[in-house]
Amino acid sequence: MQFQSIVILTGAGISAESGVDTFRDVGGIWSKVRLEDVATPEGFARHPAMVHDFYNQRRAGLAGLHPNPAHLALARLEREFRGRFTLVTQNIDDLHERAGSRQVVHMHGELTRALCAHCGTRAAAPAALSTELACRQCGQVQGMRPDVVWFGEMPYHMDLIYDRLAAADLFVSIGTSGAVYPAAGFVEDARANGSRTLELNLEPSAGTRLFSEARHGPASRLVPDFVDEILARR
Ligand code: APR
Repeated sequence: MQFQSIVILTGAGISAESGVDTFRDVGGIWSKVRLEDVATPEGFARHPAMVHDFYNQRRAGLAGLHPNPAHLALARLEREFRGRFTLVTQNIDDLHERAGSRQVVHMHGELTRALCAHCGTRAAAPAALSTELACRQCGQVQGMRPDVVWFGEMPYHMDLIYDRLAAADLFVSIGTSGAVYPAAGFVEDARANGSRTLELNLEPSAGTRLFSEARHGPASRLVPDFVDEILARR
C-alpha cells in the first residue's frame, strides 16, 4: 500500500555525518557552551556580541560542510514521491537545501537569515552579524539578530506543521533526541491521527517507545534504505 502523505522531522543527527556537531551527544554543543548564554533572548540581551560570535562561527563553518547521503535521499524522496511530502527540520544549517530539497520547513529558523528585533524585517544574514549592524528597513542599530528560534520563543510554521501531521499517514523522525518540545511531541500527534510512525536514529531516542517502528544506526545508511523502500511501494 502506497502512503498518501508523509511528514519527515529531522534533527542534528542527520547532519552529524556531514561534520555538524549535535547538541546532546558526548562532546556536543551544549557540553561546550551554556545554552542559556547563546540560545535564549536573555542571553542575547546580556551579551549580544558573544551570541553573534557563536552563530557567526557556525555560519562561517557552513561553507566547509557537504550534504550526506541522508540529506540527498530526502531530496530524492521529495522529487519522486507521488503523494504529499513535508520536510520539517529543527536544524538551522542549509544542508537539506544544498542536497536539493526545495520545500524545507525550518521550525527553529536558519543560520543564513537575520531578523531585526525592532521591526521584524528578515533578510539574508551577512557573513558576520554584529551589534554595530543597522537594520536596512528601520535603521535601528543593535537590532539585528540571528533568525534562529531560541528557548522560550515560539517555533516557526507550527500551524502548517500541525495541519500536515493531521493529514499524514506516515511520520518519520530522523536524527533527533526527542528532548525538545514541540518537535518531541509530533510523534504523539501523528499517532493520534492514525499515522504509522517510524524513528530512524543512531540510538533509541527519549521517545522511542512512542513509535510504531524504530531502526537504529547512522542516518547515511538508514535514510537511503528507507527512501528506496518507500519509492518501491506501489
Ligand atoms: N545518524 C543518526 N542519528 C544520529 C547520528 C547519525 N550519524 N549521530 C547522532 N545521532 C542522533 C543522536 O543519537 C541523538 O539522538 O541524533 C540525535 C541528536 O540529538 P540532539 O543533539 O539533542 O539534537 P536535536 O534532537 O536536533 O536537538 C533538538 O534542541 O538545542 C535545541 O534547537 C536545538 O534544534 C535543536 C533541538
